[in-house]
Amino acid sequence: MDKVINSKTGLKGRIKIPGDKSISHRAVMFGSIAKGDTKITGFLTGDDCMSTIACFKKLGIDIDVNKDTVVVHGKGLRGLSAPKEALDVGNSGTTIRLISGILAAQPFDCVLNGDASIRKRPMKRIIDPLLQMGADIESENEGYAPLTVHGRKLKAIEYTMPVASAQVKSSILLASLFAEGTTVINEPVASRNHTEIMLNYFGADIKNNNGVITSSPVEELYGEDIDVPGDISSAAFFMAAGLIVPDSHIIIENVGINPTRTGIIDAFKAMGGYVEIINERSSGGEPVADIEVKTSRLRAITLEGDIIPRMIDEIPVFAVAALCAEGTTVVKDAEELKVKESNRIATMSEELGKLGVVIKETDDGMIIEGGQKIRAGRVYSHLDHRVAMSCAVAALTADGATTITDADCVAISFPDFYEKLESL
Ligand code: S3P
Repeated sequence: MDKVINSKTGLKGRIKIPGDKSISHRAVMFGSIAKGDTKITGFLTGDDCMSTIACFKKLGIDIDVNKDTVVVHGKGLRGLSAPKEALDVGNSGTTIRLISGILAAQPFDCVLNGDASIRKRPMKRIIDPLLQMGADIESENEGYAPLTVHGRKLKAIEYTMPVASAQVKSSILLASLFAEGTTVINEPVASRNHTEIMLNYFGADIKNNNGVITSSPVEELYGEDIDVPGDISSAAFFMAAGLIVPDSHIIIENVGINPTRTGIIDAFKAMGGYVEIINERSSGGEPVADIEVKTSRLRAITLEGDIIPRMIDEIPVFAVAALCAEGTTVVKDAEELKVKESNRIATMSEELGKLGVVIKETDDGMIIEGGQKIRAGRVYSHLDHRVAMSCAVAALTADGATTITDADCVAISFPDFYEKLESL
């Protein structure tokens, strides 16, 4: 599908954005291996989370998808059954990496496959620690999907994370639930901690002492109700739009503001952006708030180090905001962008280049000269939801109508993105 985005001024109003993708995935997965029902409200019904639901249904779990709730009828740590066919994770890296940790310990074998993008994404990062735990995983070309996971008895390990990745950490933590002994993960740079929060909420015994995470065995997990907050990664498109589109004032309601995810707010504030956290509260151990943004004069910053994993998914739209700032923005330490749904350093540079602006690619990030004039044009999403939405935000400040090709991939994380944008 092609989508035409017209340039705009004066984005105004209150919006509610869809549920957090990371938390929605986890609620289904952990609910499936917990005893009893997990009732999820605010669930993101995007394609990725629906892939997770489809996988656990094939593993014998009953999951009711109703209008306002998803109910997972969990069967406990030892309740999954062998699937009759390969599990299809679609486009979802979170699904394949987390589910591998669970499947590594089951008394059956299972094949995991996904779309063309998934088959290009590195899986060695989960295979290595899982093999150390005693898993038996075959992969294509030593590290790519499809994966064949032969269930084995697992043992605890001590593991130091070579990259800051919540998906890798979560895969090991899930395997640790089935392993003999206490698993220790050293995490030099913090990544999102929704797994630790939700597993503990369900009865696990996971502690984090200054980046040393321990997971000790428990007999069972027990399902709990989960109210999923809005996804800050989806809110980021409206934060950026509110900051750079003249005469805008937006309030984004009910956004998860877990400190492992709020790098984008810190970055926009450091640029001089009006981004205020209001009405702060808590839900299921996760902090939630409304976010108010107003058009602001932005200045360039250097983005590097520990903030990068705290805003890894938001860097494409951050780059768009940096184009509208005064001065030269530098993004470093962000080589992980190359192994997302697309190589986001390359795809953002290529597509924004079609709108007449230059984003210089570097080995570990990008250099963005502020104050460049964005021109209307035709861009391609590369079937990457965040590239499509970032281009849409850039198009708001262009000098005419911009067309996004294969724009419907936003359904991965934000099915009604274009409608929400139009509502402002
Ligand atoms: C996610 C973790 C991040 C993020 C992805 C979702 C998660 O990936 O980019 O969109 O739900 O754990 P990494 O942990 O690989 O950095």
